[in-house]
Amino acid sequence: MDQKRILLIVGGGIAAYKALELVRLLRKAGIAVRPILTRAGAQFVTPLSLSALCEDKVYAELFSLTDEAEMGHIELSRQADLVVVAPATADLMAKAANGLADDLASTALLATDKPVVMAPAMNVRMWRHPATRRNFDRLRADGVAFVGPEEGAMACGEYGPGRMAEPLAIFEAVAAALSSGRPLAGKRAIVTAGPTAEPIDPVRVITNRSSGKQGYAIAGALAALGADVVLVSGPTALAAPAGVSRVEVETAREMLEACEAALPAEIAVCVAAVADWRPESCGTRKIKKGAAGPPPIALVENPDILATLSRAERRPRLVVGFAAETDDVEANAKAKLQKKGCDWIVANDVSVEGTMGGEANAVAIVSAAGIERWERAPKAEVARRLARKIAEALP
Ligand code: CTP
Repeated sequence: MDQKRILLIVGGGIAAYKALELVRLLRKAGIAVRPILTRAGAQFVTPLSLSALCEDKVYAELFSLTDEAEMGHIELSRQADLVVVAPATADLMAKAANGLADDLASTALLATDKPVVMAPAMNVRMWRHPATRRNFDRLRADGVAFVGPEEGAMACGEYGPGRMAEPLAIFEAVAAALSSGRPLAGKRAIVTAGPTAEPIDPVRVITNRSSGKQGYAIAGALAALGADVVLVSGPTALAAPAGVSRVEVETAREMLEACEAALPAEIAVCVAAVADWRPESCGTRKIKKGAAGPPPIALVENPDILATLSRAERRPRLVVGFAAETDDVEANAKAKLQKKGCDWIVANDVSVEGTMGGEANAVAIVSAAGIERWERAPKAEVARRLARKIAEALP
């Protein structure tokens, strides 16, 4: 842990006193702690005690001339290996979930590209409020790791979930987040995502339903583990995840070309919903309606990107495909594993309402070793778990 650096944001809640004990544990482990104390946090612990334990200056103001001159808010979040929010109040969670940046703490959270661990602490009714539930789900989907809250008697006299996790539990979560490190550093991954669009004429296309969310989340999760990720994406409305280089394509043939150009790679994850067929020809002029009725569209088969990468001379060490199925999900996935020559198929039951275009996914990983069923989880969580499984498979 030595030489790791943490940016610790202390929010305003009675649990703030426990943040001091957390600092002590972190410092004992050789971790440098740079503190941000919110205005509300300063009602519960003094800047002096926090500063003394951290052996560093306490940062508090976004528009303080001295603070900004010494260490701008962007620098503050960049210099850390990890950002920890303890206590994470309902207000801090709401700001972070919505991207608000109206003080130093929320601005640092918005400006960071580092992993974030939050230890929520609030009254039980605030924790259970639908707004906090929404913010919690959104932050988890954004990749924030949570520790606690715990259930128990609260300072306000009520009982229930909302107590901040004990400093030791937070310390362990921090240690786990710091040591997971970047196991895929130095490894290249190709990820295909989104649909392809196959032109019929200059204004019409044949395409598939695909939001691209799962593929983008996987690209982001692989990059978070240190992989050098090339995301080959069909048309989507999504922004490229941090640290990923995106190549935008339209057709299956362009997607294949971009994937081949990105070889050699250790990892390929084909999530794209590639159109199986494309119109044989696409003129330069729009097809007009006429007396002859609807025009016949002759189709030809598109290249299979997953199968091509699986059989390529420079085959990535691990090739993963997806199978979007509505029936006999696992049997079809097994057949697909054979047919495509890949190592794993992530079988995805799209007959479950809310999967297509939605935020959650229930998948099973099918490989020669058997089947591993995962519980339904947000797509970002499925992505992180898959990225970790990939990292374990490629020592
Ligand atoms: N795939 C691909 N190139 C294609 C078609 C599919 O790379 N031309 C990949 C997808 O990205 C996915 C996997 O193959 O990883 C399975 O795609 P799917 O559409 O479920 O399977 P198909 O091969 O199209 O089979 P079918 O339509 O018969 O289910």
